[in-house]
Order: sequence, then structure tokens, then C-alpha cells
Amino acid sequence: MKSPRPQLHGLNFKPKLLKKIRMSRSTIGKSRKGSLACVGIGLTLGSHLTPLARSHIEQADVVFQAVSDGIVEKWVESLNADVRSLQPFYGENKARSKTYREMVDAILAEVRAGKKVCVAFYGHPGVFAWAPHAAIRIARKEGFFAHMEPGISAEDCLYADLGIDPGAFGCQHLEASQLLYYRRQIDTGGFLILWQAGAIGDRGQARLRTDNRYRQVLVERLAQDYPLAHKVVIYRAATLPIHAPRIERITLRELAAARIEPPDTLVLAPARKLVADTQTLAKLAKLDRLRS
Ligand SMILES: C[S@@+](CC[C@H](N)C(=O)[O-])C[C@H]1O[C@@H](n2cnc3c(N)ncnc32)[C@H](O)[C@@H]1O
Repeated sequence: MKSPRPQLHGLNFKPKLLKKIRMSRSTIGKSRKGSLACVGIGLTLGSHLTPLARSHIEQADVVFQAVSDGIVEKWVESLNADVRSLQPFYGENKARSKTYREMVDAILAEVRAGKKVCVAFYGHPGVFAWAPHAAIRIARKEGFFAHMEPGISAEDCLYADLGIDPGAFGCQHLEASQLLYYRRQIDTGGFLILWQAGAIGDRGQARLRTDNRYRQVLVERLAQDYPLAHKVVIYRAATLPIHAPRIERITLRELAAARIEPPDTLVLAPARKLVADTQTLAKLAKLDRLRS
């Protein structure tokens, strides 16, 4: 009878491959007891996480979670006996930077206590998320093994639900407020995706929402590059499999009055045709002629 294949995180591997994985892990982390895995659980309950992410959650000594929905929280709680929510760190009028620093402190306290710590974030833990990157950076600096396991992000859902291929015309992703705070160049030949528009212009980063006067400033900024009749999609991926995504098409001029919630993402389609770069094309043609 064949002996069973050895396992890592509950997955079967050929012995040689397992040895290689273990060796590469030992070169990433150092030897201190305690470890950190920041994993993404995706957007839609139970169906967007990798087997590795799930295994990290199940095998951790302590699991912290920062997820998008009470039902999703309950589901994560069913995977491990010690699951702690990071939600209590949020507070009305509390600067988000303070909240995130406190989260990182709480996570690292358990890593430093020698625990195998897993933090489950909704979506992808590395996408528009400060705390996971910071926690991993600090943990590695202190000599702990720290790893990020990707999950399906709002970006991935958006491509599927809206039928957008980022390779067709290119895709620019911006934190919506950055567009107001800094001089950014929008490439209207490609898609523009604006994240965190629900609280646009909240310079103190303490509010969940800002009102339509702030969105009017966004409309005025976007109107520098797009006609007011240009279409904007308000997009929200489903967090429960029984829900449908929110896909609402409005015009740019209607954006200030629209209802934009914290989980919504804005999508603007290209506004102009691509213009051929004749100089560079001529260089390529010259190379082609040399080949023939
Ligand atoms: C702090 S970021 C977290 C993103 C997350 N890490 C991810 O990978 O999707 C929050 C922003 O993500 C986007 N977002 C979150 N949930 C979403 C959803 N269900 N559908 C579409 N966009 C969402 C919104 O732009 C929101 O303001």
C-alpha cells in the first residue's frame, strides 16, 4: 500500500516538493518562535479564499479578523476556537491611522508571545490595506516568519461582474481622495477605478462617509478630464452568495447626488480612442526591416 503524502497546511505534497517549500520558508523568516500570516478571505462568504488561507486560519493559535459582514465574521469564528474581531478598534471620529496602529500592536503582541497568529482580512490583504503590510514588515524586521496569502479582491470581482479586461485599454486604480489631494494625471484612454469614494475628501480619515458637497468636488475634478455626460458605474461586489452585486450606471453630473456607501467602488470607462505613437512605431518598423 502507498504511504500517504506528507502534508503542509492540510495540503498533500510530494516529499521532495515539501522539503523545497520548507527550505524556502526558512530563508524568508528567521528562527524566533511566533509567526504571522495575513490572509485574504475574499469578498463573497466562504468561496473566495485559497486552501492555504483557510488552512492558516484553522491551524493558528490566535486568529484576528477584519471582515466586511457580521455573517462572514460568524463563518470565520466557526473555523478556529480563538477568533478575535478587530472591529472594536474602530471608533466614531477616531483617526483611521490610530485604529490601524492599534490593530498592528494587538497582532504583534501575540506574535511576540510566541503564538502562531493568523489575521483574516476581507478581499486581498495587500490591496488598499495598510495594517497587513505594516504588521508583516515589523514582524519580519523582528525576526519572525511572516507571510501574506492573497485573496480575491474587489478588483477581481469587478472584472468578472462588469466584464472588464484590464489588459484591453489599461486600468488606473486610485484612492479617490488622492485624486483631490494631489495633482494626478488620469489616462482617459483606459479605465479609471476609484476606491474608498464613500469618505472622499475626509482629510482627518475619521469619518465613514462624507456628504454630497465632497462628492461635488470630485465631480469638478473629474470634469477636468471627462464630459459631465460620461458614465460612472457604482459597483459593489456581493458579500453573500445569495446577493447580487450593485451595478448602478449614472452620469458624472449625477455623482454628487448619488448614494455612495463605504464598500462602493467607482468605475469610469475610457473616454477617448487610443492615439497611435507614430515615432515609436517607426522605430519598431525599422527593427523589423533589419530582421528581413
Ligand atoms: C480598505 S479598502 C479594502 C479593499 C480590500 N482589501 C480588497 O481587496 O478588496 C476598502 C475599499 O475597497 C472597496 N470595496 C470593499 N468592499 C467592496 C465590495 N463589496 N465591492 C466593491 N468594492 C469594495 C471599496 O472601494 C472600499 O472603499
